[in-house]
Amino acid sequence: MIPQEFIEEVLERTDIVEIIEPRVTLKKSGQNYTGLCPFHDEKSPSFSVSQDKQFYYCFGCQASGSALKFLMEFDRMDFVSSIEHLAQRVGLEVPRDQKSDPGASQKRKSIYEVLDQSTSFFREQLKSHESRARAVDYLKGRGLSGEIARDFGVGYAPPGWDNLMSKLAISNADRQLLIDSGMLTEQVEEGKTYDRFRDRIMFPIRDLRGRTIAFGGRVLDDDAKPKYLNSPETDVFHKGRELYGLFEARKRVRKLNKLIVVEGYMDVVALAQHGVGYSVATLGTATSTDHIERMFRIVPQIVFCFDGDNAGRNAAWKALLSTLPAMEDGCSAKFLFVPDGDDPDSLIRREGQEKFEARIGKAQGLTNFFFQTLGSDLDLESVEGRAALSKLSVPLIAQVSEGVFKQLMIQELSRRTGVDSEKLLGITGLDRSSPTRERPPPVNQRQRQLKQSGLGEHATRILLRQPDVANLLDDGGLAKLDGVAEWQLLVELVRWIQQAKDTSPMLLLSHYQDGPYFDYLRGLAEQDPMLSQDQLADEFLDTLRKMVRENESEQKQRVIDDLTQKPLSELSPVERDLLTNHRRSKPQS
Ligand code: UTP
Ligand code: MN
Repeated sequence: MIPQEFIEEVLERTDIVEIIEPRVTLKKSGQNYTGLCPFHDEKSPSFSVSQDKQFYYCFGCQASGSALKFLMEFDRMDFVSSIEHLAQRVGLEVPRDQKSDPGASQKRKSIYEVLDQSTSFFREQLKSHESRARAVDYLKGRGLSGEIARDFGVGYAPPGWDNLMSKLAISNADRQLLIDSGMLTEQVEEGKTYDRFRDRIMFPIRDLRGRTIAFGGRVLDDDAKPKYLNSPETDVFHKGRELYGLFEARKRVRKLNKLIVVEGYMDVVALAQHGVGYSVATLGTATSTDHIERMFRIVPQIVFCFDGDNAGRNAAWKALLSTLPAMEDGCSAKFLFVPDGDDPDSLIRREGQEKFEARIGKAQGLTNFFFQTLGSDLDLESVEGRAALSKLSVPLIAQVSEGVFKQLMIQELSRRTGVDSEKLLGITGLDRSSPTRERPPPVNQRQRQLKQSGLGEHATRILLRQPDVANLLDDGGLAKLDGVAEWQLLVELVRWIQQAKDTSPMLLLSHYQDGPYFDYLRGLAEQDPMLSQDQLADEFLDTLRKMVRENESEQKQRVIDDLTQKPLSELSPVERDLLTNHRRSKPQS
């Protein structure tokens, strides 16, 4: 028994591209990713993954679904294990035997909404608030164009304690939602609430789908503390995973092939304004392996850009340590140190795109930075120094997964220590210690066949493929199906989709996972309606029309049958008419 809201939360936090990419080679094409379909044999790619919709679809075999469905199909995992797997990836524990709380998913949806409204509110204030000049001057002073401010959704939280609150907190429930989304601060003792962000430049932090999940707010006056205020952790914001600017980078750059990791919001924005639209920032936290894995799933190269001072070098070393376990063949990480007193923001303003990109091109490779740092306090001319280098580096190299990159690091260690690499492997145990990543088992081809069956089943199958079609129906149309027992499930599905704000085949299925129909529905979902995406809607409506007609004529037939049972003398004139009309229109054959 896994609560529905939990499944939704897991899917909200999962990026389908991250699930599919390690299993299917994907290429970015426009807003989507394409590759060879893993579910049928093909030579040219017709498998497409939409990050916006969090959905995959194969134009060849019509396989489709969410990240959850993909796992179930590709790795041949059952429903519960798939959820467990996804939950673990995003750091959630599957709740067991817990009462379902439908409020929770509703609440998350409302939080996204409130954050969206806040984004609009702050942007509006930047245009119209009486003290906007202060904010606009500040942004101009920092060289930001109006265009870039728009692209990043930059706004202004005006001075005062309740600007946002009085605009958005109409009811007590709204106020609670603003608290839960981190926009209001609550002082429990005095029972007071007030705007968390006041007199600050507001940077919305957006997820891959472009929804605002939090804010960073910068003071206008550098003496005020803290300089940046971030949203607290909320149901939709988990600091350690998010990267500021990732959504924007993917929008700006059609074919992302590298990402630059910088420290600050302003660095990301300034780089983008000066033509380097592919940088991201961690949110005041160190770069984690989680961050790096996310980036490597999107691009093969990461360039860390840090200050050249001691603090910057330490941060870079930490980033390197987080990178090692994520390194795989085909990936590369580089390190760029900006001159003392600069940050990427000031540097690109002074030097411009070309020179900045030239620096990126010359950034130090990971292996180089690795051995340079480890060797910095050692005398590599001496035997002891070289032994120490080996001792320090071996446990770190061991974290790299098996492959060419690891071999190259071992060779480099061999070169620097003068110990033959074969021997090095034997002495250090590096040949045994490698963690091997789990690879999913190969997929067997499977054939899907359309089983022709009742109209209701056909409609349900379409609904499971493309739940949106439910919204094409109005109450009147639905009411015509309502009385028929065998269509109750279909009617219920339609009603559920119509009230759900956001749905996908998998959400729909998972909603029914604890019910008696789950196996039936899942079986149907796996059957292929053999229709292209744009035919589905027409076919659905057409099928329902047929159902209504079938129902009406069956009802009529029942009435007629009843009437036929009775002696003619007991019928009313109307009934008699009906019967004779029927007989006339349907002569015995
Ligand atoms: P910095 O102090 O290096 O500032 O913080 P910055 O990015 O150069 O900011 P500007 O250029 O003065 O506007 C780097 C990052 O650390 C986080 C923010 O994410 C910031 O962008 N930070 C910094 C905080 O979260 N809180 C703070 O008080 C300061
Ligand atoms: Mn700065």
